[in-house]
Amino acid sequence: MTKFSATTPIYYVNAKPHLGHAYTTIVADAVSRWHRLLGDDVHLLTGTDEHGLKIQQAADAQGVSPQAFADSIAPLFQQAWQRLNITHDDFIRTTEKRHAVGVQKLLQACYDAGDIESDVYKGQYCVACEAYFTDDELVEGKCPIHRTPTTFVEEENYFFRLSRFEDRLLQWYADHPQAITPGFRMNEVIGFIKTGLHDFSISRKTLTWGIPLPWDSSHVAYVWFDALANYITALGYGTDDAAFAQRWPVDYHFIGKDIIRFHCVYWPAMLMSAGIEPPKGWAVGGWLLTDGEKMSKTAGNVVDPLDLIDVFGVDGFRYYVLADTTYGNDGDFTLEGITKRFNSDLANNLGNLAARIATVVEKKCGGLGPKPSANSPLTEIAATAVRETSAAWMAVQPSKALEATWQLIGATNSHLENHEPWKMEPGEAVETVMGDALEALRIVTILANPALPTTTQEIWKRIGLSGDISDLRIDTDTMWGQYPGGCAVVKGEPLFPRKTL
Ligand code: MSP
Repeated sequence: MTKFSATTPIYYVNAKPHLGHAYTTIVADAVSRWHRLLGDDVHLLTGTDEHGLKIQQAADAQGVSPQAFADSIAPLFQQAWQRLNITHDDFIRTTEKRHAVGVQKLLQACYDAGDIESDVYKGQYCVACEAYFTDDELVEGKCPIHRTPTTFVEEENYFFRLSRFEDRLLQWYADHPQAITPGFRMNEVIGFIKTGLHDFSISRKTLTWGIPLPWDSSHVAYVWFDALANYITALGYGTDDAAFAQRWPVDYHFIGKDIIRFHCVYWPAMLMSAGIEPPKGWAVGGWLLTDGEKMSKTAGNVVDPLDLIDVFGVDGFRYYVLADTTYGNDGDFTLEGITKRFNSDLANNLGNLAARIATVVEKKCGGLGPKPSANSPLTEIAATAVRETSAAWMAVQPSKALEATWQLIGATNSHLENHEPWKMEPGEAVETVMGDALEALRIVTILANPALPTTTQEIWKRIGLSGDISDLRIDTDTMWGQYPGGCAVVKGEPLFPRKTL
């Protein structure tokens, strides 16, 4: 059985989940759902990043211990993902024992390989990024990401000798030219490596909120070293080596463009040092912007996904973030945008198709959905939609996948408009048109299921089919012709009641 393993970033628990977190997680979930439909053995990992100065400071500000603080926020992520219908197989918290064991094993492996050495660090640190910056990288003396003042740090640290990995990384990427999607991000990574890599600090002496280094417990691991390791500790590295060998290397790390250097430069080098293969791929998304700014707690422009769900439903929200932004590019989040998408693609196209099919079947076919024909003009259109939708999900192009699926919705609506079955007398002709339309709609519900898990399941039920779409194992070459006919079709309430701004 083909395996498909994917990860999302693990989210800092200094803030509750916002739209930007939800975006990356929904993309990873939808792609994973597509792979499950194909019958792959899927594993999707997500979790929370709970160590480091940023969390320590957030806890201090509330006068609670960092553990109590993390314990209060991590469930908000778990609840949000449940609400958003995320089908992760594991949720790792970096304060778990299994994680600490694996992080220490990884640190020790890099140390034993001679790639970690003690040195004195002098320079600027941004707590919001949990990252070190050289003076050249600062913008007007401030953090280039957050535009907030950095802190001067001078302390004895252990360093990971990243500078030794330039050639190995370049060689690895030359051997794996498709590893980073979209491709232009690969060029960015290569370009960055070619400018010369600096060693980076992997420990903090002045902080206690972290995992102690196995050979020097007066230091805790730098939060990024700790965080990146989640991808292997969750799979069993250090605690269940057999399970780890089954799952690693993963197919994709889904990440945002802001954390590409950590993931595509530091992380593979750390793995190489420890004698572990790098992941097979990275899928790098852009940012969702509000008024041209990245949504973040620091910028104070966060949108709570749960508020949007109340208005547009889980599927309305999922659809918008998947369909409206080309994965890899930045997208602009606006209320106008989500309302427009909802009304046109969901209410007018999909919702309308399902409703008009049910109405005609009720009036002209005695409420029983007829079988599809073998030579419908929709057969070819459906085959193209299936092929293109599948290829796009496989290539992590959600908006393209949905566009291909919506082509079939459009063609089926046009098919009905051309034949006007609502004007026909009950009989063979109307049965043929409606059987074909039902079959096209059945295929649409499967193709759109990764994006719209709840509403597609509802349509499935309304056209008289049983079981869960997500339990199907489809063959993309032989989709047409499986609507059994004779099923009770019901109209039900509108699935996507139109919204006004
Ligand atoms: N904890 C680190 C990641 C460690 S992974 C080993 C971290 N956490 S975060 O909570 O700040 O953000 C994680 C990710 O959420 C970002 O890298 C990005 O993928 C996503 N997003 C956060 N804000 C975003 C937008 N406004 N738009 C799109 N995605 C963004 O960084």
